[in-house]
Amino acid sequence: MNQPVSKASVHAFYAEAIRGGLNTAENLQAATSERFNTLLESIGDGTPRTALDLGYGAGTYTIALARAGFRVVAVDQVPSDSLLQRIDSASDWANRIETRECLAENFAIDEDFGVVVAKDVLHYLARRDVESLLTSAVTHAQGANYHYLEVFTGITRRSADGRQLRIEGEADYSPDSFRHVIERIYDGWDLTLLWSEHAEQDRRTGRNCFEATRATVIAANRAA
Ligand SMILES: C[S@@+](CC[C@H](N)C(=O)[O-])C[C@H]1O[C@@H](n2cnc3c(N)ncnc32)[C@H](O)[C@@H]1O
Repeated sequence: MNQPVSKASVHAFYAEAIRGGLNTAENLQAATSERFNTLLESIGDGTPRTALDLGYGAGTYTIALARAGFRVVAVDQVPSDSLLQRIDSASDWANRIETRECLAENFAIDEDFGVVVAKDVLHYLARRDVESLLTSAVTHAQGANYHYLEVFTGITRRSADGRQLRIEGEADYSPDSFRHVIERIYDGWDLTLLWSEHAEQDRRTGRNCFEATRATVIAANRAA
């Protein structure tokens, strides 16, 4: 295996893509998923009106949550200017968004977030950081809380010349190891785990540069 790609270069890639409003191979500008929309519409009064969006990217999920009435803490390692420009500060929902420019692994969850979203970001973190973040969100959950996670497992990345690549410090979960972690952390919650195959193509070569099994986790706290 080659030298890992540095975290710094991954962070620089996203900072540039988001600043430029680019739609990368992973479709950063995509609308929220049907599964997420269905979940959001189903949320009732027992859920605290606070949300956390980890790795918000272009901010699509953050905006959907704010429009639905949630106060949203939006965390990403990229500067927040792009999201702040995208939201219209004249709208009442825009005032419900609070951005935090920091690494997700350095964000301390110390309140009861009714909804936690982490889409296409947790695979970049070390396993111990993924597990401690989710555990801490679960520990603080007191109402009918919902967690919506999309996480890549079993990842294969290739450079344009076909070399296999990995990213410094990434979680590198297999589907099975991720399922075990989720079942342990969400013990006592209603858990839906869905799996789909995912591939992204290098526009220059037309070959797959990223292949993975995507896990979608919808966890609902039964305790409330
Ligand atoms: C593939 S994008 C997903 C964006 C958004 N969640 C979505 O699905 O539309 C990954 C995002 O995670 C952010 N990111 C990657 N590693 C991170 C980390 N350790 N802490 C915070 N943000 C991170 C990137 O800056 C980027 O905005």
